[in-house]
Amino acid sequence: MKVAKINLKTLKNKAKKEIEKIKDLKGLNEVFNNYLGKKGELTLILRSLEKLPKAKRIKIGKAANELKNILKVEFDKKSQETKERIRKEAEKKEWIDITVPGERPVFGHLHPLTITRRKCEEIFQTMGFTVVEGPEIETEWYNFDALNIPKDHPARDLWDTFFLKNGLLLRTHTSPVQIRYMEKNNPPLRIIVPGTIFRHEATDVSHEFQVFQIEGLMVDKKISVANLKAIVGEFFRRFFEKEVQFRLRPDFFPFVEPGFDISITCLICGGKGCPVCKKTGWLEMAGAGIVHPNVFKNSKLIAKDWQGWAFGFGLERLTMLKYKINDIRLFRSGDLRFLQQF
Ligand code: FA5
Repeated sequence: MKVAKINLKTLKNKAKKEIEKIKDLKGLNEVFNNYLGKKGELTLILRSLEKLPKAKRIKIGKAANELKNILKVEFDKKSQETKERIRKEAEKKEWIDITVPGERPVFGHLHPLTITRRKCEEIFQTMGFTVVEGPEIETEWYNFDALNIPKDHPARDLWDTFFLKNGLLLRTHTSPVQIRYMEKNNPPLRIIVPGTIFRHEATDVSHEFQVFQIEGLMVDKKISVANLKAIVGEFFRRFFEKEVQFRLRPDFFPFVEPGFDISITCLICGGKGCPVCKKTGWLEMAGAGIVHPNVFKNSKLIAKDWQGWAFGFGLERLTMLKYKINDIRLFRSGDLRFLQQF
């Protein structure tokens, strides 16, 4: 009995000390099991009571049960405290000052070339043109032969071509779409074809190996150079939002006759001469001309029934002049200092 009494006292102090030291719920649970679990020290004492004589059983039983209740209260108290402390710590960690001004999200915006393409599309659509697309990987037939550029003709050298291993090529201009469209659609027609082209060329301030072109094609019964000049003039006026000087000079493209190069006064130097216009004061913007009869023939149209003009603008050059950009390589440089200006 004495031993048991001492045992209960030491047990109480030991348990209390252990409970005090505990820092988390897992540890608390372990200590609880050590005393009050199935095989806990106090549980075992309570179980062994039945072997004792009645008087002892009652006395020790009472003391043991009291201790059990005391420990339960201690465990509950510690459990509440621990939970509260954990909650407070978590709250402290998660606390945010909602009065601190937020970080401004960085908004994306359109690339200058996309702005130009959309502007061109809008202008030509209001003049009755349909926007058409064609493949970037082409056959030799559509890129050259059908455009009246025979296999061994030196004119092919005008377009430095990336040939693919499978015999196809990366289109060197948007003109193949003239043929593709006329094969499927009968005139009268007015289309523009914005799209990427590729040339095996060294780059400099005004040349890239991958650029955008906008092809234009208008076919009807009576179409002349006057129509071409009028439409191009109207386009420049609306695109640059002012009167700009442009000129048509004879040029050679096998798929037009006569052919022209369309140049515009260099808006970067005001016509005085700079590296972009190669000190000429003029910048070549497009090739153009009256559609060659062979192009109609190759599109399965009766050549004598139709007349038309076509042009091919460089989209980068248009953008450079509009925004006074002095190096074409900036467009695809990915330089945010450049892009954020638009
Ligand atoms: C052609 O590509 C003809 N297909 C244009 C054409 C269409 C003529 C319809 C007649 C009828 P050219 O190679 O000149 O032509 O290119 C047309 C325009 O694309 C050029 O004036 C220029 O503005 C742009 N361009 C062509 N190559 C490059 C390049 N490497 N870098 C930047 N711009 C280019």
